[in-house]
Amino acid sequence: MIKVTLNINDFDRTLLVEPDENLLYTLRERLLLTGTKKGCDQASCGTCTVLMDKKPILSCITPTLRCEGKSIHTIESVAKNGKLHPIQDQLVKHGGLQCGFCTPGFVMTSIEFLEENKNPTESEIKEALSGNLCRCTGYKKIIEAVKAASEDMK
Ligand code: FES
Ligand code: FES
Repeated sequence: MIKVTLNINDFDRTLLVEPDENLLYTLRERLLLTGTKKGCDQASCGTCTVLMDKKPILSCITPTLRCEGKSIHTIESVAKNGKLHPIQDQLVKHGGLQCGFCTPGFVMTSIEFLEENKNPTESEIKEALSGNLCRCTGYKKIIEAVKAASEDMK
């Protein structure tokens, strides 16, 4: 086991991890931050997306040891004081989630995207979310929700 210090959701956390452990396992099994979901576990579905230094990464293929000293944000950090983030709020309003398994990944990807692009077109949203898969919604409502959230965030 190797000692590592990560900044998770604005708190420093020092813990022992296996040399080959991935960040998804560390978040879910050691820190009990189970909002980040394990889907394919091989970089294909996007449901394990978290932000590292504000950029989306796939935690299932990110070695935890490579996150030493990095700032990690997970879905648990997104709602503030019981108030949903505009992306979460619009996903609810638009029915952009059904089982919800993919939703944390979509939210984390969208947060960074809307920070970079304040006035996205539909095709830009589709492109930005192309690495996130959803088996329930057909995507249309998710795309509409992200567009609506971009208006709320102006
Ligand atoms: S669980 Fe990481 S991309 Fe699917
Ligand atoms: S809401 Fe079920 S996978 Fe997206």
